[in-house]
Amino acid sequence: APSQDRLALRLPAEYNERTPGCPFDPAAHQAELGAQGPVHQVTMGDGDPAWLVTGHDEARAVLADPRMSSDRFRSRRVLAKLPPELRARLTDESGRAGNFITMDPPEHTRYRKLLTGQFTVRRMRQLTPRVHEIVTQHLDAMIASGRSADLVRAFALPVPSLVICELLGVAYEDRAEFQERSSTLLRLNAPTDELLKASDELRAFMLGLVRAKRAEPTDDLLSGLIEAAPELTDDELIGISLLLLIAGHETTANMLALGTFALLEHPEELAKLRADPSLVEGAVEELLRYLSIVHLGPIRTTLEDVEIAGVAIPADSTVIISVPVANRDPRNYHHPDTLDVARPRPSHLAFGHGVHQCLGQQLARVEMVVGFTELLKRLPGLKLDLPAAEVPLRSDMLVYGVHSLPVTWDA
Ligand code: HEM
Repeated sequence: APSQDRLALRLPAEYNERTPGCPFDPAAHQAELGAQGPVHQVTMGDGDPAWLVTGHDEARAVLADPRMSSDRFRSRRVLAKLPPELRARLTDESGRAGNFITMDPPEHTRYRKLLTGQFTVRRMRQLTPRVHEIVTQHLDAMIASGRSADLVRAFALPVPSLVICELLGVAYEDRAEFQERSSTLLRLNAPTDELLKASDELRAFMLGLVRAKRAEPTDDLLSGLIEAAPELTDDELIGISLLLLIAGHETTANMLALGTFALLEHPEELAKLRADPSLVEGAVEELLRYLSIVHLGPIRTTLEDVEIAGVAIPADSTVIISVPVANRDPRNYHHPDTLDVARPRPSHLAFGHGVHQCLGQQLARVEMVVGFTELLKRLPGLKLDLPAAEVPLRSDMLVYGVHSLPVTWDA
């Protein structure tokens, strides 16, 4: 069930709140903890203890530790807190099938290998010109429509959605329906019944897609998976497709929109990038580090008692990685709070680490490199169309970013 995390129990809202005027800095509460040490006992919204990891090396160690489970819903303690209809869905075999981001080895390993076999250099190379076309089509449409637009609606959200259509092989005539259904599913804080309904509709759509590829394979990831592993069931293929959609859409969209906002708010960095477009690949890594849009997670559950940086964490505990703070650990980065597009290729945890490290990171990089390059090239004089303080931030969402980004540009 793709909607699980947004409904699962969270830390109190103060852990996510950004300081007014500092939309790109980690939430003050997380940063304050980070200044005190690398691992912290905190209290979840329902009063249960959890542990927040803010140190870079400690975060990396947790993400590489086989005693840390990605299957949050194996824990009876966590399951007991969910609304019953959601609990039923999350434990139901068909709902769980293929959703390998929540599985541990060796179950996870099987899917991961199958998928790695599809995310090949050849497929990424084939997708690059399509990404380019999708990006330029959306910029053309924006330019044709006038002198201002909401960059989120006109560009950041549709581009990654169409790239996933390419990846999965969604037919052109079905793409509007696909985009509409997936945007419902990604809609903020929808009530459980609406999310379950949207997820059922998307599952039905994906079933149609899976059946079409079984009947008539084409040159896409879904057909490739069916060919490589004919034993995969419809439920597994639906689960895999939904995972790719959920993991690849909102993340990339928010990097594009929040990344643009950050560049506009750092005019010297933006000028450097405009002057030397060959900086874009490093700039993308720096934006990933600096913005760290996965801002409360990845989340793990301890399978046994563990000790991290001298802190004892009992079995069956929730461990939350603070990627924003870990990616600004002064032990690992010089001037960590500075956005420096010319920083030599910083390594970072924005794509996670360990066996679950982002499967789509090469594709995401292509989307961001092409997206930012074309955006800056085609929209000279790009600027915000409202005061920066009024840009609506996604502080309360699982993936940080902006709800909208009104911009204008020179004719
Ligand atoms: C996993 C971030 C784009 C597919 C992850 C994880 C992170 C992440 C932090 C690790 C989760 C964990 O350890 O629990 C991002 C960011 C992106 C991005 C910041 C954009 C800038 C994409 C794209 C795709 C994708 C474009 C696919 C089209 C996946 C999948 C996993 C994953 C399938 C699960 C891998 C596994 O469990 O083995 N991503 N992601 N991601 N990502 Fe991404």
